[in-house]
Amino acid sequence: MRKKIVAGNWKMNKNAEQTEDLLNELIEKMPTETDVQVIVAPTFVNLASAVDHLEFINIDVAAQNVHQAESGAFTGEISADMLKSVGVDIVILGHSERRAIFNETDALIANKVSTALEHDMTVIFCFGEELKDRQSKNHFNVVENQLRDGLFHIEAKDWAYIVLAYEPVWAIGTGETASPEQVQEMHEFIRETVRKNFGADIADNVSILYGGSVKPDNAKEIFSNPDVDGGLIGGAALKSDDFIAIVNAI
Ligand code: G3H
Repeated sequence: MRKKIVAGNWKMNKNAEQTEDLLNELIEKMPTETDVQVIVAPTFVNLASAVDHLEFINIDVAAQNVHQAESGAFTGEISADMLKSVGVDIVILGHSERRAIFNETDALIANKVSTALEHDMTVIFCFGEELKDRQSKNHFNVVENQLRDGLFHIEAKDWAYIVLAYEPVWAIGTGETASPEQVQEMHEFIRETVRKNFGADIADNVSILYGGSVKPDNAKEIFSNPDVDGGLIGGAALKSDDFIAIVNAI
């Protein structure tokens, strides 16, 4: 049985005090019995305190990025070893904002994936087409290429550390969600692509999350699709009531 996961990507939001407040609210509102893995990804500077804060509750902490090198003269960057040293062993890679704003290529993302895996970190691997790709009916090709070029260099054993997050760029932060049919169609294609390259066992066991304007009022419908195993949540992860409602929607 593959894992159900709801991850909140806080992006560049919440200072130290606001981080603590939101974590406290989540601790208070988290369902006591749940088989959903709940993950939050605050900013780098608040990761260590978040790990401490969540020590006694079943909410995991992820980083939003990692540098591909081990250490050295890379001003402003954070290494996998640094993340591990403060108790963070999950990292979001390939997010469309990193690709578009920070020019991260598939090759760079592939390097980062390798580094994270070398450090036994779980990778939430993000990918998804832009609006122009869908309009030109090229979305399946784009998604397949992103998977091949950014991820498919890994070995079969590494899949235990991979979570896929399909995020159509046109649905991120826009309020426009992909329809449940569009989501299921793409998730089925993604699972099939993994199956073709790595076999049925890996394809059946990898969790595939959907991201892009997931809200409490559309989460249930999206999550009810057979190939959707949860969500990567942006805006709605910044409000505890909304985030917990999405966790409860699975
Ligand atoms: O990482 C999360 C995604 O970018 C989705 O963001 O829920 O604000 O559309 P959103």
